[in-house]
Amino acid sequence: MANHNQLVGEIINDRYKLESRIGGGSFGDVYIGHNIKTKDKVAVKLENTTNDHDLRLKIEYKVNQDLGDRNEFPVAKYYGHFKHYNVMVMELLGPSLEDLFHMCKRKFSLKTVLQIGKQMLSRIERMHKAGYIHRDIKPDNFAMGVEGADRHVVHVLDFGLAKRVKTVDNYHIKKVTGKKSVIGTARYTSINSHRGIEQSRRDDLESVGYTLVYFARGSLPWQGIRRSNNNAKYHEIFLKKDAITIEQLCEGLPRQFKNYFHHVYNLHFKEKPDYPMLHGLFDSMMAENGFKYDNVYEWEENKAYKNLIKPRLKNPPVTPPPPVNIPITIPEKKVPLKRKTKSQKKRDALAAGRPLKPKPKYICKADRARLGITTKTLPREQLKLYCI
Ligand SMILES: Nc1ncnc2c1ncn2[C@@H]1O[C@H](COP(=O)(O)OP(=O)(O)O)[C@@H](O)[C@H]1O
Ligand SMILES: [Mg+2]
Repeated sequence: MANHNQLVGEIINDRYKLESRIGGGSFGDVYIGHNIKTKDKVAVKLENTTNDHDLRLKIEYKVNQDLGDRNEFPVAKYYGHFKHYNVMVMELLGPSLEDLFHMCKRKFSLKTVLQIGKQMLSRIERMHKAGYIHRDIKPDNFAMGVEGADRHVVHVLDFGLAKRVKTVDNYHIKKVTGKKSVIGTARYTSINSHRGIEQSRRDDLESVGYTLVYFARGSLPWQGIRRSNNNAKYHEIFLKKDAITIEQLCEGLPRQFKNYFHHVYNLHFKEKPDYPMLHGLFDSMMAENGFKYDNVYEWEENKAYKNLIKPRLKNPPVTPPPPVNIPITIPEKKVPLKRKTKSQKKRDALAAGRPLKPKPKYICKADRARLGITTKTLPREQLKLYCI
């Protein structure tokens, strides 16, 4: 698409208004949008039907629905058409793991890798239990939630290459012989996928492993290969992936990473992975390093993270207006006048040479009674005259 934001402002199915583009590629785009009635935020994935490629969005919608409305996958809300696009509206998620990795200067702490790794394993396990394999496991296809507890939940998305491997009666499909083209993304796809071997559950788990090594080490050994065409490049990636030993791949990482690869490399096509054992590897790495699954992630205080989250909130926090520059005059403080005490007045009079006022003496009560003087018979002032 030439202009990536060309659909901003369009309303899909009289309900979903497109706000801004957040992802996509040559076959389509993903936008943030909102329901114009409820104001709920949504993600809208559009597939260009004029391009010469397999149309997958309808299949993706079907897989999304089959996985059910768990908070582990973005819930699909609508499927339809708009202009020359197929459209799927779904629950809006937060930034992808690739966005977050980039934000954290392309290195995650071991604790983050283990916390998200365990969640990725759970999500893939859930998909496998529902009879599907993903076939395109990579950091861009996982995203955190947006608000509340959900912002700590890793979600899997993009089921464009997903495939059923188990029938509804729980029978595993047969291995199709004959060479297939590489399915998925070359950097993360399994060695068997490079060889053109039909994928199954083991291939998803191998890709989870590569994704975690990428997060923990900052890159994969077969990154940065340049060739004149994609096929030559993919072949080179395959040769490197195939030649590297588990020890070399997991250099500098806890030994459990090696155990992980030993298990997934040795699985047969139909074999059920030992999910509890794999979960145990994460738990033991957490325990050995003194980590707790507390959902504290290194990106949460990052400004770029907050900027990515803000347009996805239904009610974004209102930022106070910037302070206006009005000169402030501070009123002079009024000092309350203090009454002078008697001793102060006396000191002042002595200093000024004024005569001191004689201290009036009053007749005591008993004498007043004897003389028959009361305050009633004499004004109070004149009582002073009866000094003794
Ligand atoms: N439901 C969603 N919520 C938030 N972001 C999403 C959602 N779906 C996709 N994205 C973003 O758009 C990108 C592309 O979407 P994806 O479904 O993977 O399309 P593609 O088939 O082009 O890879 C993702 O990497 C992710 O960053
Ligand atoms: Mg994708």
